[in-house]
Amino acid sequence: MKLWGGRFTKPTNELVDEYTASINFDKTLAQHDIQGSLAHVDMLKVCGIISESDANTIADGLKVVAGKIAKGEAELTEENEDIHMNVEKLLIEEVGPVGGKLHTGRSRNDQVALDMRLYLREALVQLSQQLVSVQKSLYQQAEANLETVLPGYTHLQRAQPVLFAHHMMAYVFMFQRDIERLSDSWKRVNLSPLGAGALAGTTFPIDREYVADKLNFAGVCENSLDAVSDRDFVVEFLANASLVSTHLSRLCEELVQWSSAEFNFVELDDAFCTGSSMMPQKKNPDVAELVRGKTGRVYGHLIGMLTTLKGLPLAYNKDMQEDKEGMFDTVETLKGALGLFAPMIESMHVKKENMYQAVIQDFSNATDLADYLVGKDMPFRESHAVVGQVVLYCINNGKYLLDLSMDEFHQFSELVGEDIYDALSPEAVVNARDVTGGTAKNRVEQQMDNATKLIKISEKWIHDHQTLIEVDF
Ligand code: ARG
Repeated sequence: MKLWGGRFTKPTNELVDEYTASINFDKTLAQHDIQGSLAHVDMLKVCGIISESDANTIADGLKVVAGKIAKGEAELTEENEDIHMNVEKLLIEEVGPVGGKLHTGRSRNDQVALDMRLYLREALVQLSQQLVSVQKSLYQQAEANLETVLPGYTHLQRAQPVLFAHHMMAYVFMFQRDIERLSDSWKRVNLSPLGAGALAGTTFPIDREYVADKLNFAGVCENSLDAVSDRDFVVEFLANASLVSTHLSRLCEELVQWSSAEFNFVELDDAFCTGSSMMPQKKNPDVAELVRGKTGRVYGHLIGMLTTLKGLPLAYNKDMQEDKEGMFDTVETLKGALGLFAPMIESMHVKKENMYQAVIQDFSNATDLADYLVGKDMPFRESHAVVGQVVLYCINNGKYLLDLSMDEFHQFSELVGEDIYDALSPEAVVNARDVTGGTAKNRVEQQMDNATKLIKISEKWIHDHQTLIEVDF
């Protein structure tokens, strides 16, 4: 007999059981579900809704069930539909009919919203932690490459030289924003929906705040209808996760390009590459490619969730069961990618000499020649045109700017002096960008100092919130 079987005269069609059940995926929520139930039953006791001895029996039984599920010793069935009813059935098997008192003043609708929030709180802390590790690996590469110059690109055409450290720090700041978005979302996740009941609240004299406090929530959801039908926090998480994926994917694309023979700027460690079954020479950047590829599923989950929610009337609808797989998959996808990324970046070999060769066999110092002429009082628009002519001359004669003699420079402008050769060297060109956020070495060091402070703030946030998710009974 089903937990809700009272008003039915026939068993459910087997295909319906199979189709509507969520146990195959919401079993992920087992421990959170039991954590929430322990808080709920404690509240029922404190509020005098059930006796102390019944409450203790239920709490002990829940702990036994938690242990059995963790060890894979409990049978979770589609017939019992979802994790909530499976746990309740197991509890009743464990402690007898008194287990049936657990669900007093509660519905699966507020229960599932609670479980999702408990799950997501953990994910926010864990993913932030992993993002910090990735930031640190990028920072390490920056530290080791404060003198490494490579071409900076726009339109994937060589534009102006930059320090490799500068390039690495760009990603550190992207991931910083990602961490800040995740930690900001915490305040919308960290509210307890429990007590909303099915939709309208409950007739029992429950204490919602007590439960919220027990579970380290900052407060309760204000409106019972909203409490059970709000999945904004899932959408918000998926959107934030999509941006993490975007950032990872852009970095992946650079790693794939840089490790091609055409660029030859980096070599990923053997431990993070794979080979070909046919071509013996191949060493493929599979991890970077797959992380880039998995961006698709994360974006897909975001659009899927938004679409599922868009036409739903208040309050709970079964459609909302579709919130789970996308969220779980997104968390696991990001965890997998971030876990690999930190050691992959850390162990990456940077081919400084190849980067340098690319810079000198190139016109990425052309802006500097134009700026040099501006320093001699030529209007920038005019110097831009003059240098355009110089570059054209070089292309036609197989030369770069630093190959030109004084006489050749003078064919274009008498303003060029001997000091031009120093001014156009890669180091000078980089260090001339001496503005806040610029690529000059001292400015990159400044960014690194600031990033170190931000990382410390994130680490403190992670530490403080780590203790909040460790709810013990
Ligand atoms: N398995 C359901 C879900 O994930 C739990 C809530 C079901 N509530 C209900 N009234 N059918 O959304």
